[in-house]
Amino acid sequence: MIEPIEWKDNKIIFIDQTELPVRLNYVMCGDIDTLCEAIKKLRIRGAPLIGVAAGLGYALSAINSKGKTYRGLKKDLDRASKKLRATRPTAVNLFWALDRMEKTLAHLSGEPHGSPDRWKRAILKEALDILEEDKKMCAAIGRNGAGLIKNGDVILTHCNAGILATAGQGTALSIIYEAKKQGKRFKVYADETRPLMQGSRLTMWELIKNRIDATLICDNMAASAIKNKGVTKIIVGADRIARNGDAANKIGTYGLAVLAKHHGIPFYIAAPGSTIDRNIKSGRDIPIEERGRKEIIYTGSKQTAPLDSKVYNPAFDVTPHSLITAIITEKGVYEIKRFRRV
Ligand code: MRU
Repeated sequence: MIEPIEWKDNKIIFIDQTELPVRLNYVMCGDIDTLCEAIKKLRIRGAPLIGVAAGLGYALSAINSKGKTYRGLKKDLDRASKKLRATRPTAVNLFWALDRMEKTLAHLSGEPHGSPDRWKRAILKEALDILEEDKKMCAAIGRNGAGLIKNGDVILTHCNAGILATAGQGTALSIIYEAKKQGKRFKVYADETRPLMQGSRLTMWELIKNRIDATLICDNMAASAIKNKGVTKIIVGADRIARNGDAANKIGTYGLAVLAKHHGIPFYIAAPGSTIDRNIKSGRDIPIEERGRKEIIYTGSKQTAPLDSKVYNPAFDVTPHSLITAIITEKGVYEIKRFRRV
């Protein structure tokens, strides 16, 4: 299986996702600034993968630290954490992973026989644990969600919630891979996902590689595909889920949930526990990233709007829990309206 991120010889190796589907380019990253740039520019993207990358970035900064004392190491790590936290605001997995890394560091402060080497090993272990746990969570989401897929289903997905967005086999797409493994027959429609085309560039790339019967559509064809191509369910990922079940995901997701309700088809969110933000009550509190105007004025490198156009470019929207049929996590399938497991 493709590994979008790996730890090798004290470096982070990642796939530069901005180059897909044209080039599968692995980048070797040995410093935190390169990693932060990669997250900001979406070379590394997808909520769970951003969390894994943040953990590894913290470990990388520990390995690179010249601090000879706990205080010296902590100073370097606090600086790294601050830089990582400033990369992207919406995916809570980033903050979840860094909170976990900082807690690990705090535990080490009480060690009577601690040494920089030992602290660094413990920090690296925590980062690698996050990576391995993500793989397991993805597999469990796939197993839990596959039961919802029936022969003859036509599934619509948005953005990329697959192998490239996680350390494992994805969230929404993990369900698709698991259903295929179980021998189920179904079709997938993938939205191209303007403006950065994660659907056409990434989802189509990995679905074709994994021999899934997939068809690409432009975002504005979703309603037509639901009506005329018999879409039976929509499954997407999430970047942050509030306590009441409101879920932020790639811009355009909310519109799909409205369409699902109108057409009477189920709308599912698939996400690991690390995407649930227990500190916030509702979607109103989810910070939504707004990105630069060039992403809309240009399509790839071609200018497709007047340069002085006013632009609104939110990277995510929030789907209210009332429009979500169920949330599929590594623990099970949770029906939102009744807050009960099905
Ligand atoms: O801007 P991106 O590409 O990082 O946005 C990614 C998404 O919106 C995904 O759907 C989400 O992170 C879930 S990934 C399993």
